[in-house]
Amino acid sequence: MTENPLVEGLERLPVHPTALVIFGGLGDLAKRKLLPALYNLAHEGALPERFHLVGTSRSEMTDEGFREEAADAIREFSRREPDETVLTALLADVRWVAGSFDDPAVYDGIGKVLSEFDEQAGALTLNRAFYLSTAPDFFPVIVGHLGDHGLHEHGSNPTHPRIIIEKPFGTTLASAIDLNKRVLSVFSEQQVFRIDHYLGKETVQNMLAFRFANRMFEPVWNRDHIQSVQITAAEDIGIGSRAGYYDEAGALRDLVQNHMMQLLCLLCMEPPIDLGADEVRNEKVKVLKAIRPPAPDEVASMAVRAQYAAGSGGGEAVPGYLQEADVPQDSNTETYAALRLHVQNWRWAGVPFYLRTGKRLSRKVTEIAVTLKPVPHVAFGDLAGSTLQPNQLVLTMQPNEGVSLSLGAKIPGTRMRIRPVQMEFQYGTAFVSQSPEAYERLIMDAMRGDATLFTRNDEAEAQWRIMDPIVSTWEDTPGPLPQYEAGSQGPAEAASLLREIDSWRRI
Ligand code: BG6
Repeated sequence: MTENPLVEGLERLPVHPTALVIFGGLGDLAKRKLLPALYNLAHEGALPERFHLVGTSRSEMTDEGFREEAADAIREFSRREPDETVLTALLADVRWVAGSFDDPAVYDGIGKVLSEFDEQAGALTLNRAFYLSTAPDFFPVIVGHLGDHGLHEHGSNPTHPRIIIEKPFGTTLASAIDLNKRVLSVFSEQQVFRIDHYLGKETVQNMLAFRFANRMFEPVWNRDHIQSVQITAAEDIGIGSRAGYYDEAGALRDLVQNHMMQLLCLLCMEPPIDLGADEVRNEKVKVLKAIRPPAPDEVASMAVRAQYAAGSGGGEAVPGYLQEADVPQDSNTETYAALRLHVQNWRWAGVPFYLRTGKRLSRKVTEIAVTLKPVPHVAFGDLAGSTLQPNQLVLTMQPNEGVSLSLGAKIPGTRMRIRPVQMEFQYGTAFVSQSPEAYERLIMDAMRGDATLFTRNDEAEAQWRIMDPIVSTWEDTPGPLPQYEAGSQGPAEAASLLREIDSWRRI
């Protein structure tokens, strides 16, 4: 047992024997992420000894059909080549329940399968977990039916069964509040696990280690020493075949409201007492509450949106957003969003937080760059002094996961000349083992009942409270939107958010 409460918090809960029901059991997310994650957990011996998998969706299929398709998906998308023995054991007794999510018969079917598993388990009470990997319109429908069929209760543990809800959790503040109401009218908050897959990423969790396992950063982690913070989640891919979803969502809802706000919270929060779910989430909510939602007439000066135009991607010519299949010609959906936010509390008052995300930018990179203030007095002559750069700490989430710190160093020679050098830590070289995928950690934690890496109801609403005025102001402002060339750094307009002393980092 470790003596560090921060570390202990993560490991303290055992995994209960569980039957997992995936709604949308062979959808894109299930195939690419959830099933491979289950395989890798099985491979590592992390699943409980008794673990059952049930898939459900409208597709008519036999259990055997589900087994074969799940195996194919795992072979295609698993981070490690599957061992056929482990794969066969994992999928040996899978079940498929076919039907529409609004059809009560589906829930009778699921209830029957779960009871069979209970019988097999004998004296052992199986926990149940329902994973909602469906279009968001179905979330309230499924939750309602689970309640009507009594599937929200099982055994004597009040935190069983678990319900895991994929993003997006609402599309506006009002819809998020409504969804919370519906979910919490059936399940208790302790049973609910709202997914933000960024929280499952090793590098995102490393921010907790980085901030709270190292004493050296705390004294400078505030407005006295930090000039600005820049959070970038750039992607080089376009929207692919997701026009239906993406054109309704846009960059702000797709990535800023959830993933980027989570990064901001982890960066800004006060040290929690331990890594218990409530301790961490209480601190994150305080950060969100310290960000004042903009008034409609402030939006134009703190937020920029744009759409990609034709350009290049992966060395080839690619179409603009409006030319993508199934995107309406007059769409005003943003594929790029940049914001300047302020966390108005004692620690952060006056420090601008610049956030930007976009599809079809020059490369994929997710990073947080913390720029420190310049030294208060330049003791060097003009030549050396003019090349001094403020220290910059860059936490790279992906790719090339790591941390780098820029320092001013003397260039060898007889004169005092200074240039920035990088001190680097890279995951790939510091640790030999491959990092688990985000979904492995999250599925495991949901089964364990550890909600630290999941979004709490008030947290989801607090995120929306900040984004809502921006979403609605943009919806009320006619287009066309500024354009940026695919494969570029993004729209020139984003520069308007920066103070004179700040500049966007090169993507
Ligand atoms: C998803 C968004 O939540 O995150 C996608 O819907 C985006 O549009 C993806 O591509 C990015 O995730 P990651 O893990 O590749 O950074």
